[in-house]
Amino acid sequence: MVVQEIQDGIAVVKIDNPPVNALGSGVPEGIEQAITAAEADSAVQAIVLMGADSTFVVGADIKELEDLAWGRGPGAPNIHDLLLKIEDCTKPVVMAIHGTALGGGLELAMAGHSRVAVKTAKFGQPEVNLGIIPGAEGTQRLPRLAGVEKAIDMCVTGKLLTASEALEAGIIDSIVEGDLRLDAIAFARRIAASGTSSRKTREQAAAIRRSASLEDALHAGEELARKVKRNQTAPLKAVEAIRAAATLPFEDGCARERQLFNECATSEQCRALIHGFFSERAVTKVPAVSKQTVASPIAQVFIVGAGTMGRGIAMACANAGIDVALQDSSQEAIDAAMSAIRKNYDSSIRRGRLTQETVIERLNRIRPELDYREAAPADLVIEAVFESMELKRSIFQALDRVVKPSCILASNTSTLSIDELARVTTRPESVLGLHFFSPANVMRLLEIVRGQPTSPQTIASALAFAKRLSKVGVVVGNCPGFVGNRLMFPYMYEAQFLVEEGATPEQVDRALRGFGMAMGIFEVDDMAGLDVAWRVRRELRQFSAPGERKPIVADALCEMRRFGQKTGKGWYAYREDGKPAPDPEVVELIRSLSCKAGIPQRQFTDAEIIERSLYGLINEGARSLEEGFALRASDIDVVYVHGYGFPAWRGGPIFYADSIGLKHIVERISRFEQELGARWTVSPLLRELALAGKTFRTFDQERSA
Ligand code: NAI
Repeated sequence: MVVQEIQDGIAVVKIDNPPVNALGSGVPEGIEQAITAAEADSAVQAIVLMGADSTFVVGADIKELEDLAWGRGPGAPNIHDLLLKIEDCTKPVVMAIHGTALGGGLELAMAGHSRVAVKTAKFGQPEVNLGIIPGAEGTQRLPRLAGVEKAIDMCVTGKLLTASEALEAGIIDSIVEGDLRLDAIAFARRIAASGTSSRKTREQAAAIRRSASLEDALHAGEELARKVKRNQTAPLKAVEAIRAAATLPFEDGCARERQLFNECATSEQCRALIHGFFSERAVTKVPAVSKQTVASPIAQVFIVGAGTMGRGIAMACANAGIDVALQDSSQEAIDAAMSAIRKNYDSSIRRGRLTQETVIERLNRIRPELDYREAAPADLVIEAVFESMELKRSIFQALDRVVKPSCILASNTSTLSIDELARVTTRPESVLGLHFFSPANVMRLLEIVRGQPTSPQTIASALAFAKRLSKVGVVVGNCPGFVGNRLMFPYMYEAQFLVEEGATPEQVDRALRGFGMAMGIFEVDDMAGLDVAWRVRRELRQFSAPGERKPIVADALCEMRRFGQKTGKGWYAYREDGKPAPDPEVVELIRSLSCKAGIPQRQFTDAEIIERSLYGLINEGARSLEEGFALRASDIDVVYVHGYGFPAWRGGPIFYADSIGLKHIVERISRFEQELGARWTVSPLLRELALAGKTFRTFDQERSA
């Protein structure tokens, strides 16, 4: 795991713990032994510590952190003594960094006396993304090198720095242009020859003193934490730990950090975020698709329909370096699409996110098209026209005739049957759903809908394509709404029933945002367009049970052409700045329709709103799992966190259900069934798990064992 060799009087210690040289058990011990040996060896003048293969050290072993979070095993190793040993080493220790120095990796690097890195190296303390703070003195050494403000920014946001940013911040001492190993050895030799005593990071105070006002910096850090990681505890604790670094002796600061780390590491938020981490990795395990399944190369993509979704998908492809054609049926539609895309890229330039050159390069990859027959050479066609089965069927039929035999045909439909589309083609095995989320160039989720005849190779190609777009591809079964929108129906309907029974859209949205949702459900509806859901309701009418309660307000709003943001009015009225404002006209409409329908009115607490809107979603999630449309309970969480703005720190709706307790959820749902009718019938799987005292997490574990 740790190997050492001596070259020209310099001991080169290499950490070799594939795949990412994590500081799992055995590694700290190996480093300690190597340092001890090098220090004792009179032939060694200095030590270079580096990572084998493609990276330096990428943090702790997350499996060990998971054990700690769930109260199992010894947890992450405490490397305090190792870091002191490195810092106290009488010979200069130079950290040579390539790839990434993340979390524990950066903490290890900061205990060295000097750090050199290649230009492409990245640095960060991303622990907050797992609900913890740096636990190996990162919050203590980082401010001593980079100052309080920078340390706060890194520990609170989890953002990574490039090598030049790290150099500017004082985290590294030099960027090497040539061979890292050779340059680091030369660097170490120079330091050893200079005879200057080794700098111990823990004894440096200048950077901390640079802060004009410590209180202001800490206060700004807390504000930042509340803004970028709303409702999360770890970022605030990171600020508290940095306060300790700036105000206490090093040893006391370390003790405070450890205490705060332990509080975070055993919290529900930490368990939820670690669950998210492993869930995201589990999605690639798909029945009948193995590592041997060959994915078809996708070099050219053709998109049919240049509306909201087509544009976003085209940008997502161009951003990933894929050539893409964007087709629509009129010149006006194509011009409007290209101008919207340009506008979107221009705003990225204005915000400093992209350079002019990058944007030109990306725009050049998007080819506007009027004729679908130009799809002939494409490897993948993604259809994104209106949500109409008749229209989509005719497009699939026409495309099937012009594209090459190996071409994959995908639909971005949000609800319609992929099998029905596959049937009109001569290549049903190459047909699938690729369900992007709006804005498609931003949202990370891609639902990969597997139809009955879809081949494993087509699924493997879709998974590889998702990865290429830096998206999380989740394979789901073909049923109305697939997984995401299927669960969205009860969520959205229940929210609408709540307003019909006396709540207001604003109150429901406020409760949902308070729970942690990125947006309220009525804001989401306004953003997606009420007409979209209207079209879906008409298309899916065949699937609703007779006598089932239907929302009465949404259709009325659509008939008034209140389609949401796009028409300036929907559930809310939109001001010039695009912000929603409650609209008394809507509240009046709701009250009058409800009164006409004889719906009794009452007041709701936020807790009731959350239960009514989310428990229906959870119940439907359990159904989609028992029916096999979701492969794992954790897949549902990935879908909701990455596609629907569900708070990652709650783990997703299914993890949330586990944490509330399934027994309680079943009791509440049964109560709703008595009060509100059959739509609240408890899912058999949910009931079974609750009765057995199990969780969805154990359900997944038992099935994958
Ligand atoms: P949109 O109304 O913005 O765009 C549809 C585009 O298709 C229009 O530009 C229209 O001119 C074009 N079109 C219609 N017939 C065509 C034909 N025969 N040939 C070429 N182009 C044609 O619709 P949007 O929102 O982009 O939705 C497209 C699809 O994506 C739908 O199936 C929808 O359910 C799905 N979807 C929508 C999401 C959303 O948030 N809006 C999210 C995920 C999926």
